[in-house]
Amino acid sequence: MTDQPQDAGDELAASTSDASLRRTEARSAEIEAQIAKDPSGFRVMTGDRPTGNLHLGHYFGSLANRVRIQDAGVDTFILIADYQVITDRDGTGPIQERVLGMMADYLAIGIDPAKSTIYAHSAVPSLNQLLLPFLSLVTDAELRRNPTVKAELEATGDRPMSGLLLTYPVHQAADILFCKANLVPVGKDQLPHLEQTRVVARRFDERYGRVDPSRPIFPQAEALLSKASTVLGLDGTKMSKTKGNVLEIGMDADTTARLVKKAVTDSDRNITYDPVNRPEVSNLIMLVSLCTGQDPVEIAAGLGDAGGGGLKKLVTEAVNEFFAPIRARRVELAADPGYLMDVLRTGNAHANEVGDATLTEVRAAMNMTY
Ligand code: TRP
Repeated sequence: MTDQPQDAGDELAASTSDASLRRTEARSAEIEAQIAKDPSGFRVMTGDRPTGNLHLGHYFGSLANRVRIQDAGVDTFILIADYQVITDRDGTGPIQERVLGMMADYLAIGIDPAKSTIYAHSAVPSLNQLLLPFLSLVTDAELRRNPTVKAELEATGDRPMSGLLLTYPVHQAADILFCKANLVPVGKDQLPHLEQTRVVARRFDERYGRVDPSRPIFPQAEALLSKASTVLGLDGTKMSKTKGNVLEIGMDADTTARLVKKAVTDSDRNITYDPVNRPEVSNLIMLVSLCTGQDPVEIAAGLGDAGGGGLKKLVTEAVNEFFAPIRARRVELAADPGYLMDVLRTGNAHANEVGDATLTEVRAAMNMTY
């Protein structure tokens, strides 16, 4: 296979095709088995944009997976991607509040600062500096074909493409490679960025070379897709703050009940689990299933002709019961912003050590050590 920059746009676009998705899912299962046997060969890195509180889509799509992997003994890096906030909006918004809210979410769900490093983009200069050599390894044609960037551009309405939006997948490659992570738990919308990251790592090796001749500086990072990677919003479309269809992890029980009442169902009182023909109803059943561990078909059978009202009552109970201990912890954590900031500063310091070491190697490979 040739690896000229102009060839990779198709690979990036193909990374979300059905066949590619099935391969990635199969590979994720293999990786899970390896982690269970020996977690020491992995470094996990993933993160979130601090654009609002984390919600149930995040929790079941990725956060629960992270906690499980962390607890299995994998060294874990979690990024608060503050520079990604400004890819699609003007200004950083109430960023301090959002970063602290995200810290509270993380710690409440079980991210353990003794096992995981939590840090922010803007606090790790070495990470950001990797963007420069990495940008030399990609073409604008390739970036323009990234399906996730295209979708995000469309979602912003008539905003023009900013340089940062166009290049953020390369910045995300720096997020992953600054700590040499080889495993990235993400949802499938992020697969093009993972492909881009592998392309950057490979081209860096080809163009700028190595420090240790026996191995490339950067690993080939793989995606880890979680089994339940899509929980939809209360209207049956992608859960997203801007659509107002979100249940936040930290919401109280009453707010949860009020929002679930407004969820979209359909007019058939007989509840069945049928994701193709009844996506909204089935999504709500799935939410119950994720919270209770019960099989969705059995949940539907148990509801029988309870109708949308019966289903919503069950959703409210299941969500409120499952998240009660997490929410209680979150309330305590949010009351102690000094502690949250300390945890973040400690994580930032560790991320800087790791990133500085990587940048030293990069400078050596590029013969830029002065
Ligand atoms: N782009 C991711 C999102 O929108 C967040 C993110 C930033 C990320 N850097 C990352 C995810 C690195 C995985 C790895 O959810």
